[in-house]
Amino acid sequence: MRAAAAEAATAAYAPYSGLHVGAAALCDDGRLVSGCNVENASYGLTLCAECTLAGQLRLTGGGRFVAVAVRSGTGALLMPCGRCRQLLLELGGPGCALDTPRGIRTLAEVLPDAFTLSPPAPEERA
Ligand code: THU
Repeated sequence: MRAAAAEAATAAYAPYSGLHVGAAALCDDGRLVSGCNVENASYGLTLCAECTLAGQLRLTGGGRFVAVAVRSGTGALLMPCGRCRQLLLELGGPGCALDTPRGIRTLAEVLPDAFTLSPPAPEERA
């Protein structure tokens, strides 16, 4: 999965930042999907590697992410940005594993108290 993420980074389109990013995920049916970042001249509308990863999950049969790794084109470990943590959580759930600089952690650990359409019960509110 880590090698697949680095391989996916070679397909990145990143003429503005120069940072080639690849993401790979193991899915709940055992298949591996990958994605790469795709930039554009507006900068702000850039697609992160995790965005195209999410598209590949849906396009190749759906299901859920079980584990995710993100790598640069040189093989360096990268963490998903905040928006992408939310995206991965949606499609992998809180228990989905993520390769991080501090070892394998869950998405719930790297995105605590994530946004949800179900508000916490009154007794859970601060
Ligand atoms: N990028 C990703 O692909 N994933 C992230 O989680 C954070 C950032 C990309 C977007 C942009 O093309 C480049 O990295 C520099 O920000």
